[in-house]
Amino acid sequence: MLKHKDLIEQIKDPFELFKKWYDLACETEINDPNAMTLSTVYNNQPSSRVVLLKSYDQNGFVFYTNSNSKKGTSIQINNNVALNFHWKTQNRQIRIEGNANIVSDSIADSYFKSRPRGSQIGAWSSNQSADLSSREELLDSIEKFEKKFKDKDIPRPTHWNGYLVIPRLIEFWQEMPYRVHDRIIYTNTDNIWVTKKLYP
Ligand SMILES: Cc1cc2nc3c(=O)[nH]c(=O)nc-3n(C[C@H](O)[C@H](O)[C@H](O)COP(=O)(O)O)c2cc1C
Repeated sequence: MLKHKDLIEQIKDPFELFKKWYDLACETEINDPNAMTLSTVYNNQPSSRVVLLKSYDQNGFVFYTNSNSKKGTSIQINNNVALNFHWKTQNRQIRIEGNANIVSDSIADSYFKSRPRGSQIGAWSSNQSADLSSREELLDSIEKFEKKFKDKDIPRPTHWNGYLVIPRLIEFWQEMPYRVHDRIIYTNTDNIWVTKKLYP
């Protein structure tokens, strides 16, 4: 296990620092280094769940989900969201705040196409976040869509979308000895990232 004794590298571009940390986490985490907690707010009530980061670039961070789900309907009304990565092997945390926006159909289509057939069927079969009376109901739904798409390409359901989280704040947190941790916060104004340190 890596223990960081060095302060966070001073880099102007938070995406460059994100890439360094993420690449290292991909090498060291046992599973799901791309797992991130997504928080949404509905009627002033925050709600958190884990989703997977599927891509990122200078524009932001992309995950996929069912737009009719609890998170999807929350984002439709209030697209202020927060993301949180915690990499235990690195003693590091990254916190992101920003706005979630649905990605273009062509981006979502091409990602959907790359998914295993079983996952594509799953996207059609699961009415995510709705009440489920029994496991059989879900299995019946899967069977129904397996029959429907037998020997056919499976199109992306229109309710299954990618979301780009455009960050306006990114915080890098690194554990240091005796809890004297290092924190750097990047805030974006008019496309310029400004950094400052915070007390741990
Ligand atoms: C490791 C992990 C990865 C997950 N990845 C996703 C994902 O990429 N997309 C998704 O919709 N749900 C994912 N889930 C399930 C969500 O955490 C959540 O249960 C589901 O999306 C329903 O959330 P909601 O009812 O708040 O909308 C994942 C769960 C775990 C534990």
